[in-house]
Amino acid sequence: MNALSISGGKPLSGSVRVQGAKNSVLPILAATILSREPCVIHNCPGLLDVEYTIRILRHLGCNAEQDKDGNVSVSAADMSGNEIPDSLMRKMRSSVIFMGSILSRTGEAVLSRPGGCDLGPRPIGLHLAALRQMGAKIREEGGNIFCSATELVGCEITLEIPSVGATENIMLAAAKAQGHTRIINAAREPEIEDLQAFINAMGGRVSGAGSSFVTIEGVETLHGAEHRVIPDRIAAATLLSAVAAAGGDALLNDIRTSDISAVLTELSNAGCIIGVEGASSVRIRATRRPKSMGHIRTAPHPGFPTDAQPVVMSVACIADGMTVFRETMFEHRYNHVSELIRMGAKIDVMDKTAVIHGVPKLSGATVAATDLRSGASLVVAALAAEGTSEVSGLEHIDRGYDKLEDTLASMGAEIRRT
Ligand code: UD1
Repeated sequence: MNALSISGGKPLSGSVRVQGAKNSVLPILAATILSREPCVIHNCPGLLDVEYTIRILRHLGCNAEQDKDGNVSVSAADMSGNEIPDSLMRKMRSSVIFMGSILSRTGEAVLSRPGGCDLGPRPIGLHLAALRQMGAKIREEGGNIFCSATELVGCEITLEIPSVGATENIMLAAAKAQGHTRIINAAREPEIEDLQAFINAMGGRVSGAGSSFVTIEGVETLHGAEHRVIPDRIAAATLLSAVAAAGGDALLNDIRTSDISAVLTELSNAGCIIGVEGASSVRIRATRRPKSMGHIRTAPHPGFPTDAQPVVMSVACIADGMTVFRETMFEHRYNHVSELIRMGAKIDVMDKTAVIHGVPKLSGATVAATDLRSGASLVVAALAAEGTSEVSGLEHIDRGYDKLEDTLASMGAEIRRT
């Protein structure tokens, strides 16, 4: 059960539903502990990261369960713990999001530095500085981070970088803090809006998410709530890239087209025919070899997402002409390049720039995923390649995709887990 075997060259077609957003469900599950009443979160994808988050909630003494329809129920009434063990912290980056919510709930939190995809250094200085500004005392010792606060107090926090995680941590810490918190230069990602919607469904008072200014008016208590998480824009980008690379004609449903406009623009530059059907469906037709996409620079939302860079790069590998990527968000975000080269891609990397000289065909190879999105990029490349590929490292892909092979097989791909 540790590789995907993919026979490429089959066009993809049909109509598929896009999973719920990994990067929404995790902070929302962290928010459930802000209430003592039960919460139900719908549209949670079946992911390892969701499993790890449920394990963290249980470790804290909450009841948490996911049913087969993707509903996660959490009751934090009996929450007794405030410590996340290193083994769970290392599983994923978003474990750090619990810092704000545990601190708010119990006045103390003990965590270690988070794990997650190896994309180079992933500092959390902005998270710590913001919580300190709100009155938390934080010290690091022996690899652990000890946080305590007799009271969290709202204030104005200016983020040097619009960090998604720091914005979420502040929102979680501020939801029940004394007074108003204002985040300046907040991240504008759709997942921030989703977290705002959930906190408000619990009786919170958060506004401005989606813009660079988020205001949180602290409330005394939050009640239980139900919430449906938004669709996963990166899973959507992955399926769109798969069609763009392998060819075909497919309809993606249950997406928010406005969240993926930067990706749609690039795939349309690649020559795909994109039909936005209302606010929640996109039809993509790819009938010939992709065209080069010029220069693509990753940027915070609404710019081109860094998480979509690897999958769109696989399209560029077989494009007619040269595409240049400039990665501005993370230092090591080209883990997929050496594996794509094994499949016949021609790529030069200089520092944060990758120059892709499109080749007419990739060929199947044995390749290994070393992080979540690099794994997805190899799957996309394998779907387009001539011959059979074996993509190993599924523990990375399963962190963020809900049975990716089933979705692709339903579209006509020859893919199976071995
Ligand atoms: C989130 C997403 C991840 C996505 C990333 C950028 C989740 C679980 N993960 O990660 O998939 O790739 O946003 O869209 O939602 N930074 C600092 N100091 C800090 C925090 C961040 O310098 O304290 C820097 C980072 O090194 C990076 C940039 O800010 O260069 C953006 O990082 P951030 O938005 O925090 O990413 P994550 O929340 O980790």
